[in-house]
Amino acid sequence: MMHPHLLFLIVSALVQIPLSAHCLSDNTSQADVNPAAIPAWNGHTPPGTASPAPFTPYFVPEGATSYDSSSPFVYYKGAWADTYSSHFVGGSSRKTTQRGAAFLISFTGTGIEWFGCIGPRHGEALVYVDGRLVNRVDAHAQHKYIQQRLFWKYDLPHRKHTLKVVHAGSRRRKGKHAGKFYLEIDIDAVVVYKGVPPSLPQQRASPAPRYQDHDHGYDQDQELVRQPAAPSSLETWELRQKGTTGVAAMQIAIISSSHAIIIDKVEHNPLTVEHYPAWGALFNLNTYAIKALHMKSNSFCAGGSFLGNGTLINVGGNPVVESHTAPLYFGQTNGTQGVRLFPPCEADDAADCDVSEHPERVRLASPRWYNTVVRIQDGSAMIIGGSRRGGWMNNVTTNNPTLEYYPPKNIHGANGTPIRLQFLVDTLNSNLFPIAFLLPDGRVFIAANRDAMIYDWKKNTDERLPRIPNGVRVTYPMTGTGLLLPLAPENDYAPEVLICGGSTLDDTRPGYELSAKKDLASDQCVRILLTEEGIKRGWQVEKMPEARMMPDAVLLPTGAVVILNGAGSGISGYGNVRDQVGVSNADNPVHTPVLYDPTAPVGKRFLTQGLPESPIPRMYHSVATLTPNGDIMIAGSNPNFDRSEVAYGTEYRVEWLRPPYMNKQRPVIVAAPGTLDFAQRVEVQVNIPESLRNRKLKGEYISLMDFGFVTHAVHANSRLVYLPAELAEDGQTLTVTGPPHGGVYPPGPGWLCVITGDVPSTAMKTMVGDGQGPPVDHGAIESLLKSTKGDQGD
Ligand SMILES: *[C@@H]1O[C@H](CO)[C@@H](O)[C@H](O)[C@H]1NC(C)=O
Ligand SMILES: *[C@@H]1O[C@H](CO)[C@@H](O)[C@H](O)[C@H]1NC(C)=O
Ligand SMILES: *[C@@H]1O[C@H](CO)[C@@H](O)[C@H](O)[C@H]1NC(C)=O
Ligand SMILES: *[C@@H]1O[C@H](CO)[C@@H](O)[C@H](O)[C@H]1NC(C)=O
Repeated sequence: MMHPHLLFLIVSALVQIPLSAHCLSDNTSQADVNPAAIPAWNGHTPPGTASPAPFTPYFVPEGATSYDSSSPFVYYKGAWADTYSSHFVGGSSRKTTQRGAAFLISFTGTGIEWFGCIGPRHGEALVYVDGRLVNRVDAHAQHKYIQQRLFWKYDLPHRKHTLKVVHAGSRRRKGKHAGKFYLEIDIDAVVVYKGVPPSLPQQRASPAPRYQDHDHGYDQDQELVRQPAAPSSLETWELRQKGTTGVAAMQIAIISSSHAIIIDKVEHNPLTVEHYPAWGALFNLNTYAIKALHMKSNSFCAGGSFLGNGTLINVGGNPVVESHTAPLYFGQTNGTQGVRLFPPCEADDAADCDVSEHPERVRLASPRWYNTVVRIQDGSAMIIGGSRRGGWMNNVTTNNPTLEYYPPKNIHGANGTPIRLQFLVDTLNSNLFPIAFLLPDGRVFIAANRDAMIYDWKKNTDERLPRIPNGVRVTYPMTGTGLLLPLAPENDYAPEVLICGGSTLDDTRPGYELSAKKDLASDQCVRILLTEEGIKRGWQVEKMPEARMMPDAVLLPTGAVVILNGAGSGISGYGNVRDQVGVSNADNPVHTPVLYDPTAPVGKRFLTQGLPESPIPRMYHSVATLTPNGDIMIAGSNPNFDRSEVAYGTEYRVEWLRPPYMNKQRPVIVAAPGTLDFAQRVEVQVNIPESLRNRKLKGEYISLMDFGFVTHAVHANSRLVYLPAELAEDGQTLTVTGPPHGGVYPPGPGWLCVITGDVPSTAMKTMVGDGQGPPVDHGAIESLLKSTKGDQGD
């Protein structure tokens, strides 16, 4: 093993070499690439040191099993010898220099990986799957690296397979012993992806049992669940830790009833794609399987939204990072004007779903880091603010005080180009990742720093709102979280916004005057009803039981809000202030969620009793989202330059916060229409369990929800609209009326949920609106392309 410091010097020296992404990623087989030649294979920071250590892709996600070289399940043929070291998986590795020597493993599953060393004494191996030669792997490298992924195959049908690896007899190539000695191959571990037995998806394909049996569905599956959940009382909340995300969960959105998309920055994540650490993944909500995405540009601190046609856009980000821990060699491109498209993906296995980027034709009109994206009533995306380049606290030089649309529009004299927003100048410095929601009247609420306004995008005018009380700043890096509270027909969908947490620190003070430990977060929540009287009354102030910087707020289908994650002190970001922990700008993680009931009287809205405490700090770059099952998926936390295992290290573990209704008998949506047009009356088939029959449907409504696109405490597009519903005599047919227009619920994906008493069904996806995509103005697109250089493409 090389001394970490020496390694760093080599990495720095090699950074100059113009190693283009193309020579690595295009059409080379894995054996053609020598990872040791790629300095990017170095760079995570282990405990007790600030220096980067070699990147070791060895990783065992939930649903996979690792077999050590010493496992009795691995059979050896020929002469093999053990090497012992704490650097190896399981403390040992097994090697051979005998031509024709082999190891073999039989396994049941869908994929397999072989981990071992590469180095100057290593040679080639032939790899057979099910008796067929599939690859020739060359483990020869200039320097030695451990725990490298030497071979992988993930697309096998779910059944029994064999992997056989044979010493190919390659000999020393250089020096005076050239050609005389055989080189070695070794095995440190084999990781088997167990996958889902085919019977399970089939069982889930029929709608009724799929939802009814959902929880049983995976508890029965012994292969996937190691510890079946203990039976629990019907009124308790539960927190389960299950699954790992493979890439750090900086951004998350639910894309289907089976998957979430997770987007990170470019860094040394254990999940790999092609030859690089991945920075995007699809996470299976039912089996916890992860699938790497082929991201191209650096999505560091991007924003996102679904469009009216169901395609998810992820926009803005960071240039190619050139620091020693995250250099050019990920095959990444400059993401500051990036538009990453993810088309609708409904398949249970998400097999063909991936991100695509076409910077030569599809890009933003201006660079944006830390922008917020809101879907508006015509199904297009309004992209608000951000900083022109990376940094931390925004300032007049970095600020991008504009908004733009995707697809671009020709309005207010800006033909596809950015439209200036004075509000984003007036709210400097702490104004990144604005909190924004589309209001039923088609205008957009925007809060930044201590201020708020309502923007009329059709007229390009704004109405300023009263300042947020008590000097609390609520946007990055003084991050609070905001939600649009449920919209209901009884009060004509009068919108009310809730904003919680943040900080009262002075945003003009330099970082070295602020403290991660001593500067306390705000415990304030503020609420404003956005009607004429509501605005006159101003913000209503409440106190959370615990102060929070960077909280998340998640709407449940019942209309209650769960506030969770965050820190008790400090500020967002890393590497900027005094008293950093590792490099985290924040400390005193808040481990217990709090329930907020917006309909309860003031003073009785917060409930902490019975909410479980998590052992895992979730601070900067952590997320939480409601899932279609009704539980909350909690992931991420990474206040680090790159993947790190120091205090407040990169967190890959997923937790599931399960409200009490998860253990009750629940109503079921048996069938719902795939589309729901405005004001359209449709029938939804439901199955209400005997025990709930005599209980009323919640106010005769069902919930239509957008789970949002979540990043940096911004839950963009999060929405709950109660739709009028009548239950027929048969107790099985609900007649539901779609939202009146796109202001109440902008066209695009939505989730329907039936609620009886306080128990919601699992949610069923539908597409709201007329099914047309967002308007496309070709003139505005051409004008945008002419006005910007495509310099973020490669
Ligand atoms: C990749 O290589 C295969 C086999 O050599 C060839 O058939 C194919 O056309 C190549 N694809 C590209 C994109 O170059
Ligand atoms: C949705 O609209 C966007 C913008 O016009 C387009 O890029 C995308 O391909 C569309 N998606 C679908 C599924 O039609
Ligand atoms: C990335 O692109 C932006 C424009 O989108 C440009 O200003 C910046 O210089 C580029 N950065 C690098 C490192 O290429
Ligand atoms: C603005 O922020 C950038 C990035 O953090 C920094 O480099 C620059 O010095 C700041 N400028 C001013 C005027 O504070």
